[in-house]
Amino acid sequence: MTRSRIVGTGAAVPKRILTNADLEKLVDTSDRWIMERTGIKERHIVSDGEKFSDLCTRAAELALKRAHVRPEQLDMILVGTVSSDMPFPATSCLVQHNIGASRAAASDVAAACVGFLYSLHFADALIQASKAEHVLVIGGEILSRIVDWTDRSTCVLFGDGAGAAVLQATKGDHGILGTRMKSDGNYADFICMPGGGSNRPANDPKSIEEKLPYIKMKGNETFKVAVKAMADVTAELLTEQGFPLEEIDLFIPHQANERIIDAVGERLKIPAEKVYKNIERYGNTSAASIPIALDECVREGKIAEGDLVLLTAFGAGLVWGSVLMRW
Ligand code: ACO
Repeated sequence: MTRSRIVGTGAAVPKRILTNADLEKLVDTSDRWIMERTGIKERHIVSDGEKFSDLCTRAAELALKRAHVRPEQLDMILVGTVSSDMPFPATSCLVQHNIGASRAAASDVAAACVGFLYSLHFADALIQASKAEHVLVIGGEILSRIVDWTDRSTCVLFGDGAGAAVLQATKGDHGILGTRMKSDGNYADFICMPGGGSNRPANDPKSIEEKLPYIKMKGNETFKVAVKAMADVTAELLTEQGFPLEEIDLFIPHQANERIIDAVGERLKIPAEKVYKNIERYGNTSAASIPIALDECVREGKIAEGDLVLLTAFGAGLVWGSVLMRW
């Protein structure tokens, strides 16, 4: 059977680092509160003039180089994001132009923190259906530009970045084994940006007055749903694919909060040493969190050929999902 396999990864984060000590000067918070409640020590934040499409392009170029795939070989580019350069055109089209992927179709996928996994899900389906042979999947975000820097309950959480993976059609047992995506719009108000869309456009001065084009989050409520949803979808996928949890070599969960990561790991009974965490250095980079972590694991030799790798994420929508692959 035809499967899709990740043959190259790449990541890009802005140079500028914002520490908890820097945040102590902006809002009424402390390094201790942020570390205890989230596990975040610092995050990368764009400087003036840095663009989201540039971060995506850097990550994509690295992934293509490591995959030994030329841009003209790409059939499709998918960018998972909710913070594209502009509402339209899609960032994927800007990346297509930047890298010279002349043959590729391009589209963005708005699934917040699950944008990379939703994009993998679609890319995998295209490859399995023989509609594509090479797909570039990017997950990225510049949430620092839509965060309210006076709201201590959200501004300490997020970081910027992008990660990319090149998927290639392959025969055999390696590659994506299964994907499972879910959503529940009942909870749409848990994490949202109420302004800047067609309902309350950014060009309406009242939108700015009411601070609508900013991230709003019901953190506590989101936390509770996130732990159960992430654990349940992961367990369902493994049962569906017939793999017991003990066989998993590496679990890369979305890096939203260290307490969520630990709670999901405990619920699933995955040993802590198999659960990858880098939230301390990046914060919650939303759609970029899993591809940045995946790229780090590849670079640091934490994934060996044949390993079973499990990815699970959760975010605004609410949406959540899990992907299982044999490396
Ligand atoms: N510094 C100091 N105190 C703070 C801060 C801060 N930065 N932020 C909030 N507090 C205070 C609150 O005001 C509150 O004070 P009070 O008790 O006097 O009212 C107290 O700390 C506790 O606040 P909670 O909101 O209950 O804190 P909690 O332990 O829930 O942590 C957090 C908040 C970190 C946001 C957590 O709820 C969380 O991580 N939620 C999930 C986020 C998530 O998974 N999002 C999904 C992905 S995001 C996306 O899709 C874009």
